[in-house]
Amino acid sequence: MLGSARSVAFDILQKVERGAFASDLLREAALDPRDAGLASQIVFGVLRFRAQLDFLIEHYAGRARRLDPEVRTALRMGLFQARYLERVPAHAAVAESVELVKRARKTSAGGFVNAVLRKADRQPVVWPCREVELSCPEWLLARWERHYGAGVAEGVARAALCEPETYVRVGAAGSRIQDIGSQSIVPLLRLEPGQRFLDLCAAPGNKTAQALEAGVDAVACDRYLRRLLPMAGLGAALVVLDGARTLPFSRPFDRILVDAPCSGTGTLARNPEIKWRLKPEDLAGFQRRQVALLEQARAALAPGGLLVYSTCSLEPEENEEVAATVPPQLVVETRHRLPGRDAGDGFFAAVIKSG
Ligand SMILES: C[S@@+](CC[C@H](N)C(=O)[O-])C[C@H]1O[C@@H](n2cnc3c(N)ncnc32)[C@H](O)[C@@H]1O
Repeated sequence: MLGSARSVAFDILQKVERGAFASDLLREAALDPRDAGLASQIVFGVLRFRAQLDFLIEHYAGRARRLDPEVRTALRMGLFQARYLERVPAHAAVAESVELVKRARKTSAGGFVNAVLRKADRQPVVWPCREVELSCPEWLLARWERHYGAGVAEGVARAALCEPETYVRVGAAGSRIQDIGSQSIVPLLRLEPGQRFLDLCAAPGNKTAQALEAGVDAVACDRYLRRLLPMAGLGAALVVLDGARTLPFSRPFDRILVDAPCSGTGTLARNPEIKWRLKPEDLAGFQRRQVALLEQARAALAPGGLLVYSTCSLEPEENEEVAATVPPQLVVETRHRLPGRDAGDGFFAAVIKSG
């Protein structure tokens, strides 16, 4: 009998291949806590170690061959459990993976899956290159090395192989799970009670909630109603809008946060699918939108006001190059958090004054 944790993990991994996000699907699956724990370990483990697992498939199969996506997913899952998870007996990992390919109507591949997984052991292997060893595309490693140096680049990739720590922010209105990197952004706004505060890209509202604790009068916006709705009750006025277009507000704001949509390369431990999905050419599209958001936000800033532009990206196109569209004398400071060097997710922030 196929356990529900493994069959849910298989279905989620198949959907992630088609563009969905693993964390959303795991939340929606609403499994009981034990199954949820195993399903999430398998899903994130397979996504984090994907390049190592694909190398191991060839290593144990004895040669490279084209595999149907369902067969590859079942093999990645089986190998991950057999080699990387302590508590799963090898025979269970083999039997369940064979069952998964049968369920996916790939019965003829059952013998191959069985043969490959039976060879799986825990002997060390020599990885053929750093792309496989660090399970990270070479183009990302090369650009981090160029911008931050070899040590940091390796540290970022290694941090993306670890389960992220859970951080809880204890605020006036109660406690809330929020990454420690994310928590570091709002203090840069130097909020004071009574200030008019605009959070232009607000959903799901972690930073809005943090800002409200300072006693500001907040307007929280997002492009998507379905993302904004769960923020009802937080205490901010909610507005659905495209922040990259002229904003509808007649009065300016004392403080503005532009926590821009971005590639998310600072969050690879949490969202490992991003490293396989992102393409170098995607960065220009993110940048265009980020520049437009920042321009609209600056137009809504009151004289003497302060704006923070932030991303959870490590890429200069989305960070320094966007901040460079503002006259340099208005950029008060910029900050980086880098996974592996700093705790939590990677972040960039530029503090910008009105001009
Ligand atoms: C990085 S997330 C914000 C996270 C949020 N600040 C928090 O701390 O919980 C970026 C948000 O920008 C929204 N977004 C994307 N394009 C937008 C646009 N053109 N105008 C306004 N919001 C946009 C996305 O829907 C997403 O919710």
